[in-house]
Amino acid sequence: MTNSTIRAAGFGLRKPKRLNPGRNLAGTVDAVGTAVTGFEPGDEVFGICDSSFAEYVRVRTDKLATKPSNLSFDEAAAVPVSALTALQAVRDHGRVEAGHKVLIVGASGGVGSFAVQIAKAFGADVTGVCSTANVDMVRGIGADHVVDYTRDDIADGRDRFDVILDMAGNRRLSHLRRALIPNGRLVIVGGEPVAGGWAVPTVSCGRPCSHCSSSRIRARSSHAPGRCMGPGALATWPE
Ligand SMILES: NC(=O)c1ccc[n+]([C@@H]2O[C@H](COP(=O)([O-])OP(=O)(O)OC[C@H]3O[C@@H](n4cnc5c(N)ncnc54)[C@H](OP(=O)(O)O)[C@@H]3O)[C@@H](O)[C@H]2O)c1
Repeated sequence: MTNSTIRAAGFGLRKPKRLNPGRNLAGTVDAVGTAVTGFEPGDEVFGICDSSFAEYVRVRTDKLATKPSNLSFDEAAAVPVSALTALQAVRDHGRVEAGHKVLIVGASGGVGSFAVQIAKAFGADVTGVCSTANVDMVRGIGADHVVDYTRDDIADGRDRFDVILDMAGNRRLSHLRRALIPNGRLVIVGGEPVAGGWAVPTVSCGRPCSHCSSSRIRARSSHAPGRCMGPGALATWPE
């Protein structure tokens, strides 16, 4: 077989069928385009791009920020997508404010661990939900209370929350609802994989998922149809 046959069969003719993996980057600017301002070779940066597992990447400047000097490259590379997702969930969809009681299901995970810290920074009273092994870690990053989901039920009636952020995605809406105050806000992060990304589980993105389509709630999202990546539905009830 020739090289071109192999390429056509495996990788695509004109361009790769699949992008190389990796969305987060941290590194040193090697070269900048002629129209670029604000960055120059040698700058230490972090941000988001495609195929960031490669040694060299091309990145838009609006997806790049200066790396804080107190973070290593490894630490900075762990931040962009997960922390932005958490920020959108806590600030934009959850509209968390000081004094809110916030339940974060999946508090020990990639998104949830940032969500705990961001919600705390906004002055919320945060309850994190995780497994036994992660209870101390979740408390260590600032959660005021921790529920071990292997032992306790978040909807046992003892507490009700102004905002619930569900990163684990494995609870029925009716169950989450029991832990929410009337007019509370539920933000579901994640969704079902679709070609090219993640569909946000919301009726307004045009890809209703099993969470929302069978529920009695109205779901709203600021995402445009079909352009959803990251955090999911904002649901409130009653209307
Ligand atoms: N990571 C990202 O950058 C990113 C970006 C956009 C969207 N998302 C989406 O966000 C969602 C979460 O992603 P992630 O990266 O944060 O996942 P992750 O790191 O795997 O974390 C999953 C979390 O869910 C918890 N969990 C597992 N089973 C549970 C249960 N039965 N009850 C309650 N909690 C449970 C885990 O707790 P234990 O580990 O303690 O068991 C952990 O805290 C996914 O749908 C993902 O596609 C992620």
